[in-house]
Amino acid sequence: MRIKDKKDIVILAIETSCDETAAAVVCNGRQVFSNIIYSQIDLHTVYGGVVPEIASRKHIEKVNQVIGQALSEAGVCLQDIDAIAVTYGPGLVGALLVGVSAAKAISFAADIPLIGVHHIEGHISANFIENENLEPPFLCLVVSGGHSHLVAVRDYGKYEIIGQTRDDAAGEAYDKVARAIGLGYPGGPRIDRLAREGCSTAIRFPRAKVVESAYDFSFSGLKSAVLNYLNSCEMKKEKVNQADVAASFQKAVVDVLVDHSIKAAEEFGFQKLAIAGGVASNSALRETLGQACAKKNIAFYHPSPLFCTDNAAMIGTAAYYEYQKGVRHGLDLNAVPNLRLGERI
Ligand code: KG4
Ligand code: ZN
Repeated sequence: MRIKDKKDIVILAIETSCDETAAAVVCNGRQVFSNIIYSQIDLHTVYGGVVPEIASRKHIEKVNQVIGQALSEAGVCLQDIDAIAVTYGPGLVGALLVGVSAAKAISFAADIPLIGVHHIEGHISANFIENENLEPPFLCLVVSGGHSHLVAVRDYGKYEIIGQTRDDAAGEAYDKVARAIGLGYPGGPRIDRLAREGCSTAIRFPRAKVVESAYDFSFSGLKSAVLNYLNSCEMKKEKVNQADVAASFQKAVVDVLVDHSIKAAEEFGFQKLAIAGGVASNSALRETLGQACAKKNIAFYHPSPLFCTDNAAMIGTAAYYEYQKGVRHGLDLNAVPNLRLGERI
């Protein structure tokens, strides 16, 4: 068993907002004692995307097992835990409810304070885990399956949205394009891999601009352009080079993400730029944004791929800073599927 220092704040965190059942034990916000992730991807692959009902049912089956494993791998028991953190939004309502119910049950039974965490605040906080020296303020590009946001992180728990997608999220575009070229689900990692074998200038796909807002994104036009290209190849009976489509599509996404991020960092005077969310594990985005930051003398931060996609360690990290501010939730905490960034309910 681990011997806990009296000053240490140890948090048990639970994440079930989509298709990962995850639990972690995090000490003082940045030290991950354990990080258990049960991925349901194989279950959803046959349907080409996440089926909410299946996700909720699997979370119910797995959540206690994953929590038990997180405690035992961390070498702690419930008496060592200072707070239970749980994602309460945004996400799939049935999936969120499983984590929230489990967290409330433990909080009530063991008399441990409860802290509800915003999923995207968790993604942003993943950057603190491996970057000991990273402190706000910084700019963060959050790109996941459900979100594409440029966020000014003014302080711990203090966020301001500078830009966001008007339609599809970046990860959603990856998943839809992957399905269209027959790569299956989840599309992001598969396009990332295949793009390495293709030519990113083979097909010129559009880089969408939102006229009224320089920092907003729009990916649905790009997705339609890829579908139109595939249709026209079919009509002309031309063979589609999947790798070229993957590489050209990825370049169009990455160009826009990098362009907006660098412009926003410069305009708002940020010397630090971080990325977060599942798409932040994309190799082309990491490389291109890293190079662009280096040119402009902006420090670039990114979590390891394990902390980019959904996990509970990031929820424990975000919860630590809430804990320090005295935030506690009651047993009336509910799942809020459309919870806005920075909103406190
Ligand atoms: O953050 P995340 O695990 O879940 C949400 O909160 O949405 O993100 C999942 C998304 C999926 O759309 C997946 O295709 C995408 O992240 N993704 C990637 C990569 N790995 C995961 N997209 C591009 N390149 C990757 N390597
Ligand atoms: Zn996520």
